[in-house]
Amino acid sequence: MKKYALITGASGGIGKSFARQLAQRGYHVILIARSEAKLQALAESIRLIYNVEAISLPLDLSVDNAAVLIKEWCDKLSIAPAILINNAGYGLWGNFPVLNLEELVNMHRLNTEAVIRITHALLPLLGENERSYILNVSSTAAFQAVPTLGVYAASKAFILSFSRALRYELKGTGVSVSCLCPGPTDTGFAKRAGLEALADLAQKFNMSPDDVAAAGLKGLFKGKAEIVPGLFNKISAAVVRHAPKKLIERAAAGLYKP
Ligand SMILES: NC(=O)c1ccc[n+]([C@@H]2O[C@H](COP(=O)([O-])OP(=O)(O)OC[C@H]3O[C@@H](n4cnc5c(N)ncnc54)[C@H](OP(=O)(O)O)[C@@H]3O)[C@@H](O)[C@H]2O)c1
Repeated sequence: MKKYALITGASGGIGKSFARQLAQRGYHVILIARSEAKLQALAESIRLIYNVEAISLPLDLSVDNAAVLIKEWCDKLSIAPAILINNAGYGLWGNFPVLNLEELVNMHRLNTEAVIRITHALLPLLGENERSYILNVSSTAAFQAVPTLGVYAASKAFILSFSRALRYELKGTGVSVSCLCPGPTDTGFAKRAGLEALADLAQKFNMSPDDVAAAGLKGLFKGKAEIVPGLFNKISAAVVRHAPKKLIERAAAGLYKP
């Protein structure tokens, strides 16, 4: 049986790295995001370099029927992905009352609702494989409340909690669920979130998307529940876990001050 990996947000920094590294491991890749030209260029280079199938499916995942369309499309082509990576997502930075409501709701829809819908739609197909994997991309922001990134951080906390619960429910079914919690990573994320003012600071802590994706895939194939890539992120996650919430929130508010 041919092995397919379906990656959302495949046109972005971390998504591209997932796609290339899975192709290198011999997986055929299905690439989903909105930017058709970027997906096509990536698919073409993957086909050339790794000699696997690379299919692009341009789609806005924040619309209600996106998951249904993906499932219908997989059925039509008789593809049952062995790996699902729910990676598409973005953040919005700023004080809650001044952020645009529609943008906030749209971000929340992509970061959480799309993950619920896609996972629900594709679980039967993942189950057709002897062994299959779901990797949900959360963030170290999932471990704490982050003033000025409140809705984003809460959406990532949702992903972490949902992933852990689903992992438990699916024990013994052959479908393994892991959650990747990256810290600052050198992608288009900060620009999209409006966090460019912190670019210099981020530079000091940024990981490369290749390293983040490599850590994610290593953890996924080992069947880990939570994957925090990089030593700095591991240390800060441990500090956040043990320090008083009030203190951590004050520190975050200082760091992300508008
Ligand atoms: N970079 C960081 O510092 C960092 C830290 C922690 C967690 N993360 C998480 O890592 C994941 C990947 O982000 P990244 O860092 O690689 O950022 P990125 O380069 O901005 O990539 C974001 C991806 O999401 C896709 N996307 C956005 N809106 C979409 C929509 N409505 N429908 C379909 N696809 C959509 C984008 O493609 P299109 O625009 O073409 O649709 C792009 O492929 C996200 O979930 C993010 O929250 C990032």
